[in-house]
Formats: sequence, structure tokens, C-alpha cells
Amino acid sequence: FTVDWDASASEKGGWDSFMDKEIHEEPHAVADTLLGRFDLEGRLNLDEVRIDEEIFRSIDKIIVIACGTAAYAGMVAKYAIEHWVRIPVEVELAHEFRYRDPILTSRTLVVAISQSGETMDTLMALRHAREQGSRVLAICNTQGSTIPRESDAVLYTHAGPEIAVASTKAFVAQITAAYLIGLYLAQVKGAMYRDEIRGILDELRAMPDKIQRVIDTQSQTIEAAATKMINAQSFLFLGRHVGYPVAMEGALKLKEIAYTFTEGFAAGELKHGPIALVDEGEPVVVIVPPARGRNILHSKVISAIEEVRARGAYTIAVAEEGDDDVRDYADVVFWRPQCPTLMSPLVDVIPMQLFAMDMAKLKGLDVDKPRNLAKSVTVE
Ligand code: G6P
Repeated sequence: FTVDWDASASEKGGWDSFMDKEIHEEPHAVADTLLGRFDLEGRLNLDEVRIDEEIFRSIDKIIVIACGTAAYAGMVAKYAIEHWVRIPVEVELAHEFRYRDPILTSRTLVVAISQSGETMDTLMALRHAREQGSRVLAICNTQGSTIPRESDAVLYTHAGPEIAVASTKAFVAQITAAYLIGLYLAQVKGAMYRDEIRGILDELRAMPDKIQRVIDTQSQTIEAAATKMINAQSFLFLGRHVGYPVAMEGALKLKEIAYTFTEGFAAGELKHGPIALVDEGEPVVVIVPPARGRNILHSKVISAIEEVRARGAYTIAVAEEGDDDVRDYADVVFWRPQCPTLMSPLVDVIPMQLFAMDMAKLKGLDVDKPRNLAKSVTVE
């Protein structure tokens, strides 16, 4: 009597691929990254980040350095941290940052975001920042890796090992960790009231269930959409505000694993160029901001959908449950639960990841090991 046992299948815990498994672990990635870092009164405790409160208080600028998906997580965090803390946040691709002459002082906090902790471009950039006298705080998913070791401090994301080359659960964990840093800064600088911080922490705590709901309720619709669009040659992704980096991340996922030509851009740029690409049947994926509270950006994004549709585009929207305007204008909608704008990237990215994975699978590609890419790029 013998039992066939496939070691790699067993590591996948019954999932088809690591990517599938890791997408399903996203609720935990967020919950575990939040765990133990604040109390019920809304007081953050980041003692593990060994930078003096006094130094945090003196910070007058943040520069996020990262590559790929981690850089898009940084872009999301910029919107939140500037809004909460009222200090400028720049986000820069590490390789661009390193070889110009960035303005760094001892009051600049450089936040290096990296899942692997081994990306050479990010490492070179952080070394440069430290040489200029700035403090570097790493957001990293890999204990003991080089980037946290060479940084002044680290806030670990608790997403668990990420094996698939295309990053998924690390992205939501990175946003969560960066939000905690933003809220901590707001706390030590007195930029927000305790109640406001507590309110945001409550919103964050509600996100794992909302992510789970997207996975549970949308997977079939997403797979059906991928089946329908399997032969599409290119995709455009657009979003505004925090939906802009999510659009960029959605475009990146699809090119990384389904080898489809994609372009992600800010919806406001549509009229300044990209609309020329829209032709009959061109698929356009739109991240729609919440409609509630008469959000001005919502109507602007709806007009963008109308504009591309008038030119023949096939529109796929990611929108909030109950958004009736979207129902009228989009060809396909991936629904997500209601949440505040700044929390929306944590749910909006899920359909983007699932869609890319389904497209790649339907094309018979190896979703975990796409051609020409490495999980961590240890050369400049
Ligand atoms: C590689 C991976 C990407 C990742 C980027 C940054 O290019 O293929 O998925 O986003 O590196 O990696 P890091 O480990 O620094 O987050």
C-alpha cells in the first residue's frame, strides 16, 4: 500500500498554487500585522521600533523608497500619512532615488519597504540615506534579512512567507504597517486626537473580514470575467487618489503573470493622452472610489467610465456594494464592501490579484514562477 505524496502540493495546503494560497491568507496578513500594536483605547505601542519618540516628534518629511509592489503600497500610504500627520511624504523608486541628489536631513524619516528585505536597489538607496544622516525605518516581511539589519529600525509585516513571485499578501500587510507608522507619528506629534486615531484603528481592524468577503463573494464573477477576456491583447487600468496606486498594482499583476500588455494610470490623465489608446472592445479596468458622502472623486471617475465607454471600451469596475451609478455604466462589476476611502485599497486590490491569477491559469501559465522574474532581485 503506497500513498502518492507531493511535497510541493502539501506546502500549498491544498491550493492549486502558492499565489492562490497567499491571496486567501490576506485577511490574516492584515490581522496579524495589526496584532499587539495598539490597545483598545487607541494608543499605539511600537516599542519594537527602536527610534526615540523625541526623534519621531522631530520628523518633518518622509521619503518612502521601494520597488515594484512595495512602491505601490508606499504610494497608498502617502495619501493617508499626509492627511493624518500633515507632513510631506515622497515616494520614490529606490533605484531612481539613489542616483540623483535627494534632499535628506536628520529630520527626514526614510521608510524602506521590502517584502524580501534583500532587494539590492532598495538596500543601496537606504545606505545612501543613512550616509546623509537620515534615519531609516524598514517595513519588511522577512525576519533578519539585510534591509532591516542595515536600517535604524524595523516594523515587520506579519504576512508569513510569500513564495509566489507576484506579491499579494505582502502588499496589504505593507499598507497596514505603513498606516500604523502614520498613526504612531500622528500620536507622538499630537497631530490627531486619540478618538480619531482609535476610530481609524477600528476601521483597520474591520478590514480582514471585508477582504474575506471579497474573496468569498467575488471569485466566481472574477473567474467568469477572466474567461471572457482571455484573448484580450492589452488592458488599461485607471484610478484616482488611493485608487491610482491600486490601478498601477493591478496593471503590474497582470503583466507579471499573464504576460499581457497593461498600462495603469491616474484617471485624471485619461484626457491628456491615454484615451487615444481606447478603441472598440479595449478592456478598461476602473477602481471606483466610494460614492457615499457625495464624494466628488466618485462622479469624476464615473465620467471617466462614460468617456471610455463612449469610445467602445469594455469596462470592468471595482466598486462599493450599493453603488448604483456603476451598475449603469460598467460592463462588469467586482463588488467590495463599503469602507472609508483610505481603507479601500486593502479590498480593491483583491479582485485585481484574483483576476490576474485567473487569466494566467486559463492561459496555462505557471502563476507562481513567471518567466524572467525573480522573487527577490539581489542585483542592481
Ligand atoms: C521583484 C518582485 C516583485 C516585488 C519587487 C520588490 O521585482 O518580482 O514582486 O514587488 O521585487 O521586492 P521586495 O522584496 O523588495 O518587496
